[in-house]
Amino acid sequence: MKILLIGSGGREHALAWKISQSPRVTKLYCAPGNPGIAELAECVSIGADNISALKDFTLQNKIDLTVVGPETPLTLGIVDEFEQAGLRIFGPSQAAAQLEGSKMFAKKIMKKYKIPTAAYEVFDDAQKALEHVYMSRFPVVIKADGLAAGKGVTVAISLVEAKRAINAALKDKVFGESGAKIIIEEFLAGEEASLLAFCDGKDFVPMVSAQDHKAVYDEDKGPNTGGMGAYSPAPVVTESVLRQVRETIFQPMLDGLAKEGAPYKGVLYAGLMITSDGPKVVEFNCRFGDPETQAVLPRLQTDIVDIFEACLDGKLAAQNIEWSEAAVVCVVLAADGYPGQYTKGQEISGLAAAAALPDAYVFQAGTAKRDGKLVTDGGRVLDVTALGADIKMAIKNAYKAADLISFSGLHKRKDIGKKALAYLK
Ligand SMILES: Nc1ncnc2c1ncn2[C@@H]1O[C@H](COP(=O)(O)OP(=O)(O)O)[C@@H](O)[C@H]1O
Ligand SMILES: [Mg+2]
Repeated sequence: MKILLIGSGGREHALAWKISQSPRVTKLYCAPGNPGIAELAECVSIGADNISALKDFTLQNKIDLTVVGPETPLTLGIVDEFEQAGLRIFGPSQAAAQLEGSKMFAKKIMKKYKIPTAAYEVFDDAQKALEHVYMSRFPVVIKADGLAAGKGVTVAISLVEAKRAINAALKDKVFGESGAKIIIEEFLAGEEASLLAFCDGKDFVPMVSAQDHKAVYDEDKGPNTGGMGAYSPAPVVTESVLRQVRETIFQPMLDGLAKEGAPYKGVLYAGLMITSDGPKVVEFNCRFGDPETQAVLPRLQTDIVDIFEACLDGKLAAQNIEWSEAAVVCVVLAADGYPGQYTKGQEISGLAAAAALPDAYVFQAGTAKRDGKLVTDGGRVLDVTALGADIKMAIKNAYKAADLISFSGLHKRKDIGKKALAYLK
């Protein structure tokens, strides 16, 4: 079976690693891929958003299954276009991907199907938005409606901050069309967790839970990033929380989308706040999370290609999916200055030694090969991941591996997984 994977980050490296373990795969391509993925797949230089070129490649090379990593091609309708051409592709339709593509759409559906989430209002006028904020209890959360690469949300603790966020989106148009509308929502207090689920249009099977670390510095200080690390399982997702998430979030969402004529196939990612009032939805994503995927997939025992096919064929209910009891910690090695300005082209050393440690994996995110050497080429550079018998061991193993790697300006959080330790008796 020939598979094409779309994307170029650490999430896609982890997916390529898992897919290439399937005995059913005879050839794996990745567009555009990265130097880490190139060790597992043949990389083809087609951008992840270039849908027509990807479709041509898929037809010409008789690809049996395409797997989409990032959100942009999904919200642009890659799945619809491929299906119209008779191609098999794992991911939601454009209509279903609106759950991530428009926070307003997600909110409307959640309201309609009574899915617990923060109370909200939508604005396209800065003055009206400001008037609303004057009347609000702080903190307030201000979100650009559309895709903003993780930069569209402000948790404002003061009026000044709220005003700045409103003006940035609605007056200065810093998010372009994505910020033409904003959502102002109630602040939810609690601990965050991510729960991803495989979906086949009617049924869903949750993966093991994970927790991301959004802020750039330890103790959740500093600006938000694409994610500085993740671990699995997240003990805040207890059996009882999991049951509530299944019954009050995933089930009504899948039923609701089917009713709306947009049945959800693919991975549905629920960003959750576990509040004193139960789990509530912070947002939905329409694909595997990054870096949650790097922390979750090492625990997957089942052939992921079988799962993809079960989703496409509407046979998820009959698909066995097994996970290991191990804990996984993923530490992101970032470039100095990220998520702001950072330099590229710094030589990376120690990667092979780290990857050679037992139960450690180094997934590449923003890297490039220059003159035969591996150099930094993005804000998030490497995702150092390790398994352990429990979270404590996984943390130890992940940092042991991470500490072997260096490049000029390397920044990593030192506290990935720390929140889980609080649950140990
Ligand atoms: N209602 C809310 N209450 C508290 N924190 C929130 C709320 N909404 C978002 N956040 C915080 O902001 C982060 C980013 O928001 P999110 O809706 O996930 O947008 P995106 O991932 O598209 O940037 C969340 O991970 C969470 O930390
Ligand atoms: Mg998010």
